[in-house]
Amino acid sequence: MALREQGRAGFDTPSTPTSSTGERVYPPKPVSEMRKKGIYPSVVSLPRDLSNLASELGAFPFDADTSRFTVRYFVENGALNSLSPEERSNVEQYIEGIVKLEGDGEAFQDCSVIYMGKNSQSRRTTSELFKTEIATELRVFSSKSPEKKYDYSDFTFREISSHDKVDPKIIDQYEELYKAFGWNRDQVTQILQNPTSILIGAFEGDRLVSSGMAERAEFDIERNGVPHKFVMYEITEAATNIDYRGRGIYSKIARNLLKALANTDTDLVYGECNAQSPAVLQASHSLGRTSSIQALAEFGFPPKLLEQHVRIAAGPNDLRPITEKNDLLPTYMTRNKLLQYANEN
Ligand SMILES: CC(C)(COP(=O)(O)OP(=O)(O)OC[C@H]1O[C@@H](n2cnc3c(N)ncnc32)[C@H](O)[C@@H]1OP(=O)(O)O)[C@@H](O)C(=O)NCCC(=O)NCCS
Repeated sequence: MALREQGRAGFDTPSTPTSSTGERVYPPKPVSEMRKKGIYPSVVSLPRDLSNLASELGAFPFDADTSRFTVRYFVENGALNSLSPEERSNVEQYIEGIVKLEGDGEAFQDCSVIYMGKNSQSRRTTSELFKTEIATELRVFSSKSPEKKYDYSDFTFREISSHDKVDPKIIDQYEELYKAFGWNRDQVTQILQNPTSILIGAFEGDRLVSSGMAERAEFDIERNGVPHKFVMYEITEAATNIDYRGRGIYSKIARNLLKALANTDTDLVYGECNAQSPAVLQASHSLGRTSSIQALAEFGFPPKLLEQHVRIAAGPNDLRPITEKNDLLPTYMTRNKLLQYANEN
């Protein structure tokens, strides 16, 4: 997810890209919210190469328009498991998340996607907030909450059709709902009209009360000189009208999205969850997505988050300074698990 840039003059200027998945581009290039973002184009198979890439990230310069770098790398698990102590500590200072691709059914089964990032001094999360967010994540992802029963009789759930996407009444309602992400009307229209995204909305009568979206990205990653296709969908832009929260509406949207995604050729479904939202973490856990913190632990890394990645407004009572952003937790499901989920539900 991405929202408006905080202009240097102190007011919001619209960011051009509304895409959240990011592009396969390296070195990282400017995106919204004073970030440079990228995906490294080939599989990293040697621990030394990963450490060198960490050093390269460390050397990228901040400037007046860039206070964060965020890059994803496809890395062989063997390389992650055989880092020397020096290489490990070099990587550890930048690593922010791991998504294991085991079960993607394709060329990267023995690889993981590593998030590395760095922020300028003015864009840091306090250690108190970080500890609270990690404690919430550990509590949510270790819980075994029984499936809850909700009454959905007042609502209809449906995929947003191509007709809906150009209907001014629907666009108006999305504009209202997506205020949490800072999107303006043009950006909302652009999001709705992305032909490869799947959107599901919940309606009370004609009123849109909640929505979730799966945004597709497809690119090649080179391995031993051969390009391999990789398809991923990011579950993003989760928003429920504040008066309708806590009624299981988003959970049902997320379930329906997973079922729709099982009919695609995706290798990976993931989300970057607002670490301050127990509801989004809980929904992601209940749906069987794995937390990146678990994957980090499997490779011997401490808990980490995508630090101050984007701002997600918590509603009218969100009194944080406008420059303060949210830490995000990647959670994910590879293809085999997705198909199993769709079979069982
Ligand atoms: C996140 C958000 C979309 C959730 O919408 P919602 O319709 O209220 O969600 P649900 O009622 O379906 O709840 C989702 C899960 O969280 C649980 N939950 C809800 N509120 C909770 C709370 N305050 N604390 C802990 N768990 C909570 C529910 O029990 C449900 O669990 P289940 O899947 O096991 O049944 C909504 O809070 C929102 O719009 N937040 C602002 C924008 C935002 O942060 N988006 C997320 C971006 S990553």
